[in-house]
Amino acid sequence: MIKILTVCLGNICRSPAAEGILRDKLIKAGAVEGLDFELDSAGTGAWHVGHSPDERSQLVCKKYGIDISAQKARQIKAADGAYYDYILGMDKSNLDTLKKVLDERHELKVCLFDAIEVNDPYYSASDGFEIMYQQLERAAETWVKRWEW
Ligand code: 4NP
Repeated sequence: MIKILTVCLGNICRSPAAEGILRDKLIKAGAVEGLDFELDSAGTGAWHVGHSPDERSQLVCKKYGIDISAQKARQIKAADGAYYDYILGMDKSNLDTLKKVLDERHELKVCLFDAIEVNDPYYSASDGFEIMYQQLERAAETWVKRWEW
């Protein structure tokens, strides 16, 4: 069992899409949710707690056959540090906040989702969401290969 948490600022644009893409790839690779893996996403901020993913994230995921409409935003909490094996932030600011919220003994679980930052698309034009999706998709592919499913 591997436990993975994707994290961004609002938990309505990047990390819900990353969660949906990872879930799709893990399941297609034969992994069973609840048995082989657990997966969730969270925001460092609390503005959108309880909200569904941003329509633009939902749309770009839907375009590629991934339904993220049932997800609900939540905020990162200290207990996530002990619970998850991988805590994958979208940008360096996310990592800075995570290192403050989580106990330092869990610091090695915290890293970027991609080799470079995934920029916040919230204030971008709609092509920002396509760019975000493509980056998340490539990075998710790399993670799933690493986990050998
Ligand atoms: P996310 O994008 O971190 O990818 O979910 C954001 C969404 C909303 C806000 C910031 C970032 N906001 O400040 O409301």
